[in-house]
Amino acid sequence: MSFNVENFRKNFPQLERTAGPRKLIYLDSGASSLKHSAVTDRVNTFNRFETANVHRGAHQVSSQGTENYEMARNQLQRFVNARLSSEVIFTRGTTEGINFMATGLEPQLKAGDEILITALEHHSNIVPWQVLCQKTGAVLKVVPFDAERGFSLESFDKCLTEKTKVAAFIFYSNSFGQRLPVESMVEKCRKRGVISVVDAAQAVLTEKIDVQKINCDALVFSGHKMFAPYGIGVLYLKESMQECVLPYQTGGSMIDRVSFKETSYADAPQKYEAGTPNIAGAIGLGVASQLVSPIIDDMHDHVDRLRQSLIANLSSRSSLDLYDFPGERHTGVVSFNIKDTHPSDVGTLLDKYGIAVRAGHHCTQPLMELMKIPGTVRVSLAAYNTESEISSLLETLDKIEEFF
Ligand SMILES: Cc1ncc(COP(=O)(O)O)c(C=O)c1O
Repeated sequence: MSFNVENFRKNFPQLERTAGPRKLIYLDSGASSLKHSAVTDRVNTFNRFETANVHRGAHQVSSQGTENYEMARNQLQRFVNARLSSEVIFTRGTTEGINFMATGLEPQLKAGDEILITALEHHSNIVPWQVLCQKTGAVLKVVPFDAERGFSLESFDKCLTEKTKVAAFIFYSNSFGQRLPVESMVEKCRKRGVISVVDAAQAVLTEKIDVQKINCDALVFSGHKMFAPYGIGVLYLKESMQECVLPYQTGGSMIDRVSFKETSYADAPQKYEAGTPNIAGAIGLGVASQLVSPIIDDMHDHVDRLRQSLIANLSSRSSLDLYDFPGERHTGVVSFNIKDTHPSDVGTLLDKYGIAVRAGHHCTQPLMELMKIPGTVRVSLAAYNTESEISSLLETLDKIEEFF
C-alpha cells in the first residue's frame, strides 16, 4: 500500500500556515519535526482535565496519571523493543540522556582510560565526554571521517584499544543523513568489554529501533524529532548497566528510604527519575511512538523517494557541492552548498521565499572543520513533505543561483 501523503499532512496544522509569500514549506524536520494533532490533542486533554502529580497522590486523578505515565513507558519499551519497561528512563531529550551517561559513569573511569567517539558527532555527544575527561583524566579519542569515502568500521575498530572504556556514537549523521553500522560497532565494543552509548536522535523517524538487536548498553533520543512535544526524551539503559550507572540527579521520587544520615534508592526506573517528571510530555511521546511504529517503513520509503529525486537534481548542477555519503540507509537529510556562497546566505534567501531549511554547522563544528567548509545548507525531509515542495525548492534554488 502506498503512503498517502495528502492524508498524512492533515495531521499537521502547521503546514497550513503561511511563511512570507506562500504556504510554509517546512524542510527542517531534522532540527524538530512538526507536532502531530493526535499528540497535541492528547497533551491538551491531560493538561485540561487530568493534571495531578504521579507516584504520590492518594487520589484517583493522581492514580490515573500514574497509570497513563507508566503506560507511556510501556509504549516506549515497545517502540525500541527493550526487554524490560524499567530499562526506559524519561529524560528531557538526547542531550540530557548523554549528560546522564557521562555523569553516571564517572566512577567507572580513571586517568589514562579512553572514551571513543566519531568525527561525525553532534556537540551533545562531544562536550559531555570532554567534561568527563576533565574530571577523571580520561582521554577523548576520535574515529576519523574520510571526506572522500566516509565512515569506516575498520577505522573504528582500530581506535578501540585495551584502554577504551566507553564508545559513544551517532546512529544517523545529522549533518549528512547516512546510517552508521551501529550493530557491528556495538559488537566490536562487546568483544573488548567497552560500554556502548548510541545517539539515536536522527533515527526515530527513519527505522524501527531495536535495542536488543543493536545490543547497546544505552541509547538516547528526543521526542521533538518524532512528532512529540519538546522537553521529553528517552534514555534506554540496559538492565545489566543499572548497577554501575549512578543517578544523574537525586531528590524526591527516586528514593527508597531517607534519613539525615543516609539514603537508599528505589529500583530503576524510579531511581533515575528524580523530581516531578514531564508527565504530559511522556504521555504525548507515548502517543507519538504508537503513531510512528506501524508506518515507519512507509514513511522512510516516501522520504527516500523525495531524497533521491532531490539528490539526482542537485548532483547534476556543477554550481553545487553535494555532501552525500554511502550508508545502508539514510534519513531525509540532503546537505549541499552553492559554490563560493555562504550557507547562511542561501538559508536566508530560501526563508524569504517561505522555505524553511537549516544552514550552518548543524552542531558539528569539528566535522565541518574536517571537511574544510563553514557549514552546509541542510534540507531535512519528513513524511509530510511532497514532490511539489521539492519542485518549489528547486525552482527557488534556480533563482538564488541566478542572484549570486
Ligand atoms: C544527532 C543528534 N544528537 C543530539 C542532538 C541533540 O538533541 P536535543 O537538542 O533534542 O537534546 C541532535 C539534535 O539536533 C542530533 O541531531
